[in-house]
Amino acid sequence: MKKPRGLFISGNWKMNHGPKATEAFFEKLGSLNTQNSKPKISPHLRAALFTPSVSLNAALTAANKYTPFVEIGSQNTHFEEKGAFTGEISGPMLKELGIAITLVGHSERRQHFGETDETSKKRTHSLLNQGFSVLLCIGETRSEREKGETQNVLTRQLTAVLEGFKPDPKKLTIAYEPVWAIGTGLTATPEQAEEAHQTVRKLIWDLCGMETSAATSVLYGGSVTTQNLKALLTCPNIDGALVGGASVTPESFSELISISYASLT
Ligand code: PGA
Repeated sequence: MKKPRGLFISGNWKMNHGPKATEAFFEKLGSLNTQNSKPKISPHLRAALFTPSVSLNAALTAANKYTPFVEIGSQNTHFEEKGAFTGEISGPMLKELGIAITLVGHSERRQHFGETDETSKKRTHSLLNQGFSVLLCIGETRSEREKGETQNVLTRQLTAVLEGFKPDPKKLTIAYEPVWAIGTGLTATPEQAEEAHQTVRKLIWDLCGMETSAATSVLYGGSVTTQNLKALLTCPNIDGALVGGASVTPESFSELISISYASLT
């Protein structure tokens, strides 16, 4: 299958795995990945795991030892570089650890921690300016979809971040994650996902131009599993996945990498 932007498989552990479990995860992932003589990695396949902040250091050390092809990222990073923001972590702190990628605007951050389109914009702009790669999450709720507002919501969320801004498509990746599909087992069908991804790509075109649109990876997220990933990856505008529940065990994440690898050949 031809994937012009390659594939990006990423896992969001959410609030799972402290440092000890993190080290065990990577040790197992490393052994699973080298089981066959054929490596399951390719220059066209990017892999990343977003771990809890307290496990970032353990993840970096263990990934370096067992699975150097897996990037380690932060689930949340503040837009200010320092200051009175209790409980937050900043870009410079993460850089010091060796972290180069972060999620922004995950729907659980929007739902439970008061993040908005405005804070997503501030975080995205600040972190890209600081040299980070950003995986920006957008997506509609169930009631917004039922009211036929999906396109409006995606337009609002992307316009807030991209209007008047020219991101480097190598640094900014979009994750389309319909909120009704996250953690529910209700994956969007490949048709539903592809339709939304086409909308996202068209919006990037309108806001940032054709070249940026064509070069930007758009990942699907929401109940992705080893059962449904292959079909999702056949869609021309789906460039990979952001996976929650199925990224938490090394067996399942390794299988997701294998499926992505096989989809490229
Ligand atoms: P899920 O989570 O795969 O468990 O639905 C996806 C996400 O929140 O990124």
